[in-house]
Amino acid sequence: MTPPGTPPLPTALGRVVPAPASVLPGDGAYTLTSETAIRVGATGEARTVGDYLAGVLRPSTGLPLPLTSEDGEDGIRLRLDPAESALGDEGYRLESADGALTLTAREPAGLFHAVQTLRQLLPPAVERDTAQPGPWTVPGGVVTDTPRFAYRGAMVDVARHFFTVGQLKRYIDQLALYKINKLHLHLTDDQGWRLAIDSWPELTVAGAATAVGGGSGGHYTKAQYTEIVEYAASRHLEVIPEIDFPGHTAAALAAYPELNPDGVTVEVHTGTEVGFSSLTVGKEITYDFVDDVLREVAEITPGRYLHIGGDEADATSAEDYAVFMKRAQAVVAKYGKTVVAWHQLAGAEPAPGAVAQYWGWDGTSAEERAGVAGLAAQGVRLILSPADRTYLDHKYTAEDELGLKWAGLVEVDHSYDWDPATYLEGVPQDAVLGVEAAIWTETVETTEQLEYMAFPRLLSTAERGWSAGGEWSEFRHRLAAQAPRWEALGIAYYKSPTVPWGEAGSGA
Ligand code: ACM
Repeated sequence: MTPPGTPPLPTALGRVVPAPASVLPGDGAYTLTSETAIRVGATGEARTVGDYLAGVLRPSTGLPLPLTSEDGEDGIRLRLDPAESALGDEGYRLESADGALTLTAREPAGLFHAVQTLRQLLPPAVERDTAQPGPWTVPGGVVTDTPRFAYRGAMVDVARHFFTVGQLKRYIDQLALYKINKLHLHLTDDQGWRLAIDSWPELTVAGAATAVGGGSGGHYTKAQYTEIVEYAASRHLEVIPEIDFPGHTAAALAAYPELNPDGVTVEVHTGTEVGFSSLTVGKEITYDFVDDVLREVAEITPGRYLHIGGDEADATSAEDYAVFMKRAQAVVAKYGKTVVAWHQLAGAEPAPGAVAQYWGWDGTSAEERAGVAGLAAQGVRLILSPADRTYLDHKYTAEDELGLKWAGLVEVDHSYDWDPATYLEGVPQDAVLGVEAAIWTETVETTEQLEYMAFPRLLSTAERGWSAGGEWSEFRHRLAAQAPRWEALGIAYYKSPTVPWGEAGSGA
């Protein structure tokens, strides 16, 4: 900790997660003052990002930070420049010097990511919501940064335990700080159906009444779902809804007896076993159901993807699985969306453009891995969520009360110990669309528990998605430097013994 009365050290340029592509320290430093303006122009997307930046900086700095004209060489300048083609869809440049701090991007997402880097270059107290002493200094130099992968996701399972709109907004803000750009919502499972579907209203009555352990359930109305989608978009995250078919469907089968082979209803499941439920592949009503659900979900989803699950369909025969997945993928295409499915899609014919999400682990068989490499060979792009690296629901150590451990223990150093470009044999970097950190919620019920499981491991996946290279021996110091920021934000986290918390220069 910093002794009382000592101003916080300026955080060194580059002490940022995920690691920027290029950091060139320079002379001088930029310090916010009562004269500082945020220069953005009168309207437009730079102004929207400027408003967001002011919202982050004003409470803690106590400075007025007015949004003013883009003309001028001083202040914090936000520039969108279509000629900056090398910055791509999400890249940015941050230039810090005496008198001016300039953020430049080609697209608004890049400017937004630049703001996240700026936050991390300011002392952690900037995250507090009451006035703090400062000074607010950014070291001099230039950061130029573009992501390695286009897809950098986080999944939340809201089916096993329900999480409210407010809880998701809080997590979205945390994801944005680390440049995660996709929020995958696992909306349906054996234990609950969490999104209202007008044409099948019982799904969110009988199908949403409970959760793992038999507690109260919950669901999102369409208006609430739209609120999540819009909030995520305001933080440059695209929402990917998952409706898990044909297994993981006991909640739907409980709500509608006619979806069962014999027309007799089943109970919503409150345990944590998997692989026992299936839609009835041979009944036409199954496809009416799938069509209605995917149509309604597509209507309220501006993003390009619909995730249709397809994992652990152990109660569906291999033939039925292939038949079902072919028809379900065609429905996704009919509604103008791109399919995402778990990597069991290898057991069916992937639709053109389909994306598969790998969730295996070190114990996954060579045959199953070969099936995934086969998908890549057919042109299917992969999202990598290796369970023993990116599953945030797994225990860190054997002593943890929370969490599962079927893929082993996932200590923080282990969560960083992989490279998406070489992780799966036969899946080269250009077959990898990106990475995703998933939090399953069999054991996770509260925001505090979710944060404890996500922090710090979420940052390993965020960095593997954004940055090329990276060694644990260096990353662990950047992780440690984040802790005072989490404390300022009230984020619960696991104080892993693998991370040098509290070391000098961590900016506390
Ligand atoms: C999964 O973990 N069943 C995708």
